[in-house]
Amino acid sequence: MLLHLSTWCEIEKRLETSRTVIVPIGSNEQHGPMGLLGTDWLCPEIIAHAAEKEGDLLVAPTFNIGMAQHHLGFPGTISLRPTTFMSAIEDWVDSLARHGFDRIYFLNGHGGNVATIEATFSQIYSHYSYSGNPCPFILKLRNWWDLPGIMRLAAKLYPTGHGSHATPSEIAVTFAAYPDHVKSAPMEPKIAPDGPIRDALDYRSRFPDGRIGSDSSLATIEDGRALIEAAAKGLLDDVAKLEAE
Ligand code: NI
Repeated sequence: MLLHLSTWCEIEKRLETSRTVIVPIGSNEQHGPMGLLGTDWLCPEIIAHAAEKEGDLLVAPTFNIGMAQHHLGFPGTISLRPTTFMSAIEDWVDSLARHGFDRIYFLNGHGGNVATIEATFSQIYSHYSYSGNPCPFILKLRNWWDLPGIMRLAAKLYPTGHGSHATPSEIAVTFAAYPDHVKSAPMEPKIAPDGPIRDALDYRSRFPDGRIGSDSSLATIEDGRALIEAAAKGLLDDVAKLEAE
């Protein structure tokens, strides 16, 4: 069930039997010369929507802008400052919690979001801790590549050149879902450099085409299909575990 294609009456009815909601969350940022700008929000959305077709899930609209300050040296990147991102996540959580959702599961597609999302969870929980009131919901963050079996599959598909940004696995997922938007570009060097992430100008000088440690050209539609199938299954298992808590 997709929240944005439902009516309020259908959501009210569903809350009688399930209080779990999945929020795909990501970022709109450069992904090297052949990766789509939407890669980091498309991946969790594609996986959540695939899982929704297989199992009984309610999926919220995708939170598609994240904390990507370090990518702002590349056109097309849109970023929220960490404090803005925290406020926005808090408002999403408060809105969903107000309706009675008690398992709010964020499926994340951007490594740069993790610290801010975790800090936001602490901020939200702290309101209850300081007031002494019980927190009526559980918040969960899962990166899609940390779903059961995905790291192993990615290592098997790409023994070298996976890297950490504009990875062939994330690009393969988007290519499988959007085959009309498959891109190609020369990879120079074939495997991109590694290094620390700081501000936007420093990033662009260290990683001139945007990739970190990866060879995006390894991505194929077939790999993407395998990753989506495995991740969708992993998501259903992971949500079932959360619901059993
Ligand atoms: Ni990415």
